[in-house]
Amino acid sequence: MTQQEHWKTKIGFIWAAAGSAIGLGAIWKFPYVAGTGGGGAFLLVFLLFTLFLGLPLLVGEFVIGRKAQSDAVSTYTKLAPNSKWNVIGKLGVFTSFLLLSFYSVVGGWIILYIIEVFAGGLNGLSQAEYGPLFGQVISKPFWTLLGQLLFMFITILVVSQGVQKGIEKASKIMMPALLVLFIVIVFRSLSLDGALEGVKFLLIPDFSKLTSESILFALGQAFFTLSLGVSVMVTYASYLPKTQNIPFSALSIVIINIVIALLAGLAIFPGVFSFGLEPDAGPVLIFAVLPAVFSQLPLGMFFFLAFLVLFLFAALTSAFSMIEIIVAAFTKKDNSKRKKTTWLVGILIFIVGIPSCLSYGVMADVTIFDKTFFDLFDFTVSNILMPLGALLLAIFIPLKVSKSELMDELRAGSNIRASIFNVWYYLLKYFTPVAIIIVFLDVIGVLKW
Ligand code: PFF
Repeated sequence: MTQQEHWKTKIGFIWAAAGSAIGLGAIWKFPYVAGTGGGGAFLLVFLLFTLFLGLPLLVGEFVIGRKAQSDAVSTYTKLAPNSKWNVIGKLGVFTSFLLLSFYSVVGGWIILYIIEVFAGGLNGLSQAEYGPLFGQVISKPFWTLLGQLLFMFITILVVSQGVQKGIEKASKIMMPALLVLFIVIVFRSLSLDGALEGVKFLLIPDFSKLTSESILFALGQAFFTLSLGVSVMVTYASYLPKTQNIPFSALSIVIINIVIALLAGLAIFPGVFSFGLEPDAGPVLIFAVLPAVFSQLPLGMFFFLAFLVLFLFAALTSAFSMIEIIVAAFTKKDNSKRKKTTWLVGILIFIVGIPSCLSYGVMADVTIFDKTFFDLFDFTVSNILMPLGALLLAIFIPLKVSKSELMDELRAGSNIRASIFNVWYYLLKYFTPVAIIIVFLDVIGVLKW
């Protein structure tokens, strides 16, 4: 048995787990699903799901991860021997695989945009021209595939070197830098003419805009941004020492994540309204709006470039975590197999992602259930598989780990009060599964409201 690797510092773990959480979800996806899902009402539902389902589940994943000190699949075998519960881990590994196949497409878009800015392609455009330009950029098969390939290449290179060197260092520098740049851009955005309309759109709920589908999207978004339901956080926490304060770590990550999503919304929606763009433009939203906002700053393109580089890092640190759990599950943390496995898995993910990559170009008209490959993968992962994984976890944890063991594990390093433990326990045991089931039933039309 090799000695279990541990994170170098306590704060290092928080940055790495936050690095997994903060990525395309908060920055790219949140504004566009909020824009499509009705703005303020969506934000409210998303916040409720994040606090009452996401946070308890994140704590739950940390607790069982640290307790078992194992990979995504073996964790369940260890905690519930001779049972089929390790299906949660297998499902998580499968979900991560599918997720990274389209996540890397968007990561590739960022790389292409970086190249485009360097090449001067964004110079001198008017505010309405960035969207069409971006549409053109991502419709070219060769370039988008190259972008996706580069994104996967960086991910593979870093992760094949192992968790310590690969993940911890990068997260600690890039995340704070991203936060600072976001604050700058929000200030600029808020001072645009007509910015208030955008702020109102994001912050004032109009419940008439909520539909069963937008509630499902908000649920999926809450899990997506916190990397939940796929055992990523279980795997990351398996590298944790018993001295780490789990509730504090989880709460910090949830707060940073909400702040980033809000900043992304506040950076984008004022621009959307000020420039007369549409909030429901979909996945291209941020790429159409942000350059227009940055162009209003002195040295705008320089700052936009800096933003894109940090944004790419945020996406990469999330991608690292997705591939890490697949690799950890297959190698059982045997480091001699890490390199080969990472390359193999990474190449397969790239291949599976090709149809999603071409969905904004040559395969735009190929649809299944009325969705392009990209949308189908995204919908299946974010709105079905992740909530399903979350549901199974919320059932598994209180069922298979006794209350006193959970209490001991949670209290190691934290000393939280028994009353807070109980709130967490009951939210996870009853509220989370019931809420997820209700949202599912609602979407398939069983409930009428
Ligand atoms: N939380 C990441 C984001 O918001 O971009 C996405 C993610 C990473 C989801 C890792 C799931 C996961 F396992």
